[in-house]
This record gives sequence, structure tokens and C-alpha cells, in this order.
Amino acid sequence: MTTSLRIGLAGLGTVGIGTYKILAGQADMLRDRCGRPLEVVAVSARDKSKDRGVDLSDVRWADSVHAMARDPDLDVVVEMIGGADGDAYDLVRDALDHGKHVVTANKALIATHGVELARRAEEKSLTLAYEAAVAGGIPIIKSLREGLVANKVSRIIGILNGTSNYILTTMEETKRPFEDVLSEAQALGYAEADPTFDIDGTDAAHKLSILTSIAFGAEVAFDAVRCEGIEQISPLDFQYAAEFGYRIKLLAIAEEGEGGLLQFVHPTFVPAETPMADIDGVYNAVVVEGDAVGRTVYEGRGAGEGPTASAIVADIADVARGQAQPVFLTPVAKLQPYRQGDFDARRGKFYLRLSVKDRPGVIAQISRILADRDVSIESILQKGTEADGAVVVVLMTHQSSEKAIADALAGIEALDDVMQPSCRIRVMEL
Ligand code: HSE
Repeated sequence: MTTSLRIGLAGLGTVGIGTYKILAGQADMLRDRCGRPLEVVAVSARDKSKDRGVDLSDVRWADSVHAMARDPDLDVVVEMIGGADGDAYDLVRDALDHGKHVVTANKALIATHGVELARRAEEKSLTLAYEAAVAGGIPIIKSLREGLVANKVSRIIGILNGTSNYILTTMEETKRPFEDVLSEAQALGYAEADPTFDIDGTDAAHKLSILTSIAFGAEVAFDAVRCEGIEQISPLDFQYAAEFGYRIKLLAIAEEGEGGLLQFVHPTFVPAETPMADIDGVYNAVVVEGDAVGRTVYEGRGAGEGPTASAIVADIADVARGQAQPVFLTPVAKLQPYRQGDFDARRGKFYLRLSVKDRPGVIAQISRILADRDVSIESILQKGTEADGAVVVVLMTHQSSEKAIADALAGIEALDDVMQPSCRIRVMEL
């Protein structure tokens, strides 16, 4: 008789329960597809008595993550606790050290400790799989590791955070305030318990740094992501974006730059006619440009119970079939040290929103500062006077370097007639 794959689930929140439901509910189909039964043998969670709406009476409870990591009756441990350190890290490290395969949904963990954990896994020929960590239900890790293995990747562009995309879409559609829309995203289970990382770009940066490592064969460098969140976006920006023919998306971009790799997360004006502009709500999307394949586009739900559990079960199925892969596609011993490219030299168009006192000569001063840094203005809009006597001035620049724009903004913000804060949004070109 074929032996079961014996699974331990650590963490029984939305994703843990979603995973259990698929494994239990689709047991026959998964057995046929994997060639052996996938059996949940043990679970662990902080609160044993909580009603989670599923019957766990046949499943053993592990008293701690340490007990689960050492349990001789388990083949694979699924980590769904979250967080870069603490129980999640202890469980994954100990489970690998005790010869167990690991599946995790934890982007912070992989972005922070991925190389070290990959080394432990590969030394013992164990799987460390994390499809659910990036872009929820989109099989982007599998696509990069398998379907695109023949390609040298030149660029990745992603909408990698469902919560921020949901917030941007909903603010644009309903003109409701940021806080109100954020609370709704939390109630729907998209946002992290502490939504700071969703909003400030950290969650997308975690995910991007993982994709970068796989795509470019470099060690994961989460700290090298230049990251801006969506906190600075005001309802006005959506209005101006529409006037210029754009929508606003939080993009995560990894590309070859001058002298090395560049990784960015930032709100972006995306041309309204491009597919990325149509990615709404909790959906994620990833564009991968490869030398052989050209441009490929992936889209799907980036968060929530079903999509995340779908990705976790896919990894468990690979373990069941014995389909082990190097953790970051390139074996960890051959990953290159991360080479940082020159952020300042990167060029593009910029949207600038300034709040200025309505006095003669202000625009002339701003124009002079931009001209001194070789920043050329493509268009400029000024509308109405606000209650405090300020006016909003919006500028679209021609191609300029990051450094020129940063220097110019510093000069503009130092003017007496310019109020803080100003807003800078990069513009994606076709
Ligand atoms: N909070 C994350 C998001 C969940 O909004 O995309 C999936 O990682």
C-alpha cells in the first residue's frame, strides 16, 4: 500500500483552516493526483479551545512548535504562523534540522532568513517551498522556477499587495477616506493583523526580494529594496491621474540598472490602457520579461483564504510527488552576492503635487529650480484656491533622473511659499 504524506499544520488562522479544508475536502482528488494520500496528522495553534468551524477531533495537537518540529511521525511541516522571527523561524529551522520538508506562506521569513534556511534545506536535500508567500494564488514561483527556467530575466513588475491595491481601487471608485477603506480590507481578511506592512510597502518589498532572487540568481536582499507606501496618496491624485490618462498602482519592480540590480516599491502612475492598470481590488499581477519568452503576464487573487491555501497545497503536492527543487532555483551555493545598482541614475517621468501660496512668481521660482537640475516640465496644472489660501500645483516632468528630482524637490520644499508635504509619484511609460 502507498504510504501517506504525513502533514503537520502550524497556525490555524484563516490560511491554516483554508488549507485544512482543501486537504480534507479534496482528499480523494489530491490522492489520485499526487499518487498517495495527503494526511493531516498534527496541528498546532495558540488557542486549542477556539471554535474554528472545522472538525479537528481526529488530529493530534502538538503542544508547541518545537514539539511539531521534532515529531517523528511527520514528513512535512506547514508553517502558517507569520512573522520573520519567533515561533515561525524556530519551527522552520528546527523542522529542517530534524529532516522534515517545510512549506511556508511566510514572505517576511523567506525575505529575511531565506538564504540561511535554504542552505539548511539543500544540505539535507529537503524541500523548502513558499509559493503562497508571493502573490497569493498566482503560481509565480513555479512559473519562474519551472516554466521560465530557460530565460535570463531582465525585469519583473508586480502588484504584489492585495490590501494596498484594494485600498487604492476603492478610494478611487468611492472617494472614501483611506482609514475607512483600510478597516474594510481588514474585515475582509486581506490585510495583515498589523496593516503597517501592507500600507508602507514592506509586504510588497518582502515578496519582490524573493522574486528577485529567483529571477536574477542573486541572494535575497530585502534591505536593498527602495520602498515607498501609499500613505501619501490623496483623493486629488486619483483625479489628476485620470486627467493625465493614468491610474495609480503600488508597483514592485526589479530590473537590471547601472552597475547592478535595482529593486523598487512605489506608487506609480500606470497608463490607463495597459493591463496592469486594470488589476483591481485584492487581485495581484506579475509581469516577467525574459530573453527567450519575451513578456509574460500573470494575474490572480493575491490574498485571502482560498487563494493562499491553493498555493500551499500545490507545494505540499510537490513534496508528496518527491519533486524537490533548489529553494531559489539557483542552488544556494551558486547564488551570486547581491550587486546594488545606482538608484540615483534611474530615469523616468515624475508627477509632482505641490501645495503653494497663491502669490505672483511662485511658479517661476519652481520652474527655475527644476531647470537648474535639468528637469524639463511636460505639463503643469493649477486649479482653484483652498480655504487656507494655498493652491495645488501639479507638474508632469519629462524623463529625469531620480537624483535630479530629489534635489529639485528639496529645493522647492525649502521655498517660503511652498507648503509641505509635497508628493512625488513615478510614471510608468509604455
Ligand atoms: N496582506 C497581504 C496582501 C496578504 O494584502 O497582499 C497576502 O500576502
